[in-house]
Parts: sequence; structure tokens; C-alpha cells
Amino acid sequence: MKFTVRDVDLYYGKNQALKKVNMDIEENEVTALIGPSGCGKSTFLKILNRLHDLNPIVHIDGEIKLEDKNILTEMDPIEVRRRVGMVFQQPNPFVKTIYNNVAYGLKIAGLKNKGEMDDRVKKALVDAALWDEVKDRLHTSAVDLSGGQQQRLCIARTLAPGPEVILMDEPTSALDPISTAKIEDLCQSLKEHYTIVIVTHNMQQALRVSDKTAFFLLGEVIEMNETQELFQNPKEAETSKYITGRFG
Ligand SMILES: Nc1ncnc2c1ncn2[C@@H]1O[C@H](COP(=O)(O)OP(=O)(O)OP(=O)(O)O)[C@@H](O)[C@H]1O
Ligand SMILES: [Mg+2]
Repeated sequence: MKFTVRDVDLYYGKNQALKKVNMDIEENEVTALIGPSGCGKSTFLKILNRLHDLNPIVHIDGEIKLEDKNILTEMDPIEVRRRVGMVFQQPNPFVKTIYNNVAYGLKIAGLKNKGEMDDRVKKALVDAALWDEVKDRLHTSAVDLSGGQQQRLCIARTLAPGPEVILMDEPTSALDPISTAKIEDLCQSLKEHYTIVIVTHNMQQALRVSDKTAFFLLGEVIEMNETQELFQNPKEAETSKYITGRFG
């Protein structure tokens, strides 16, 4: 198991945003998180790479293990983020060249050899299905790329330092259908080497890309199952209502 989450509660001040969440996240699978707005999907995702650390009002109880180590008590946040990368809803490239966006994490990790840097940057861009589109303009500004290209660049930037897990929070909601299809294809190819957790509001997307799906409602995981099973044969009435569009 890549992540083992047990009885996790999360509070923003007095407001409880996650309630007794349990989840097993399998290695080399895509896990989709679905549920209505405000149900805690992003809150949960952020736990997995300790993005709440800087928010002083957040309090977390429970156990979150990355393989055999508790990420809250047995690992420092730098190590967690090295192993667990994140891609956000809005593409957020740095105001730097395409090359330097991807090289950024490698430089921080101390890589100095230019040849190796070039190879790693190329590999990340190839893996993010962007290389062919940018190979002749690596030293131009990343912000001149289209939105869909920027999102794939952000994926390349996340891949470059070699994480094990990639978290994606609605990575295609700002993209057109063609860019969306590219990112969905990418999820499928990346899972061979990575573990992926993706938040989506799009049921068809969850069906297309994920192996397992967890349905959140009001901070609780109501149901988690093989994706096909969850959509074809939901066990809980609330899941059924949500996936057939009767609420949420
Ligand atoms: N930084 C914060 N401070 C206080 N409350 C927050 C904070 N972030 C989220 N919340 C609250 O926690 C609950 C869960 O929010 P979260 O962003 O996790 O929902 P979500 O499922 O990702 O929704 P959406 O689909 O709209 O992105 C909401 O009630 C939200 O208002
Ligand atoms: Mg969210």
C-alpha cells in the first residue's frame, strides 16, 4: 500500500472538515476523489503532502502512513514533498523559461551537472507529453504557453525530481476538451511508474482514468470501491444520488 489513512479528523479552527477518514491508496493505481463542492476533497489531498503545515488553525488527528512511515510524526515535510508531488487546478508555472520551470526542483535538490540536468528536463517533458511541442523553445517564457501546455509543464515540473505519488486537484477544470484528453491519457501512462490521486467533478473523467473511486460527502468518505463497481453498483443511497446527478 502506498498510503494508509486511518481515522483522520481535520479541523479548521472549530470547523471539522474531515471526519474519521479511512483510505488505502494502492501503488501504481489512479484513485479518484469525487463529491460535491465543500465536501473536503482538496482538504484531504493537501494532507497527503503536508500542505496544511503552514496554516496555524489546522489541527489533524489520526494516522497517515506513506508506506511504513507516519508522514506527520516520522517524516519531515521536505521528504514528504520530495516523494509526493502536487498539481493544482489552475496551471501555475513560474515566470521563468520552460527549461527552468522543470529544472527548478532538480536545482533545489542540488543537481549541478549540466548534461544530467538536460537529460532529466527532457525526460520529464517527454513523460508529461509536452516535449514535441516545446523542444525548440525551451528557453522561452513558460507563461507564453497555452493553458493546456502550461498544465502539462506543471506536471513535468512535478515529475522531474522523481516523486512516487502525484496528487492532482481538478487538473483539467481550466482546460479545453483536447488538453483534458491529453492529461487523462497522461494519467493512464504515468500510473505505470507513479501512484496518482486525482480530484474531479467530472464523473466521466473518474470513470475514464481511475481504478478506485472514493465518494466524499460533508467530510466523510461515504463509499470507496473499484471505480466500475462504484458507478455501476453503488452500495450507499447517497453515492447513487450523487452519481446520477440528483444532488451535488
Ligand atoms: N483554509 C481554510 N480555512 C478554513 N476553512 C476551510 C479552508 N479550506 C477549506 N475550508 C473549508 O473546509 C471545507 C472543505 O473544503 P475543501 O476545499 O476541502 O472542499 P472541496 O471538496 O475541495 O470543494 P470544491 O469541490 O469546491 O473544491 C469547506 O467547508 C471549506 O469552506
Ligand atoms: Mg477543492
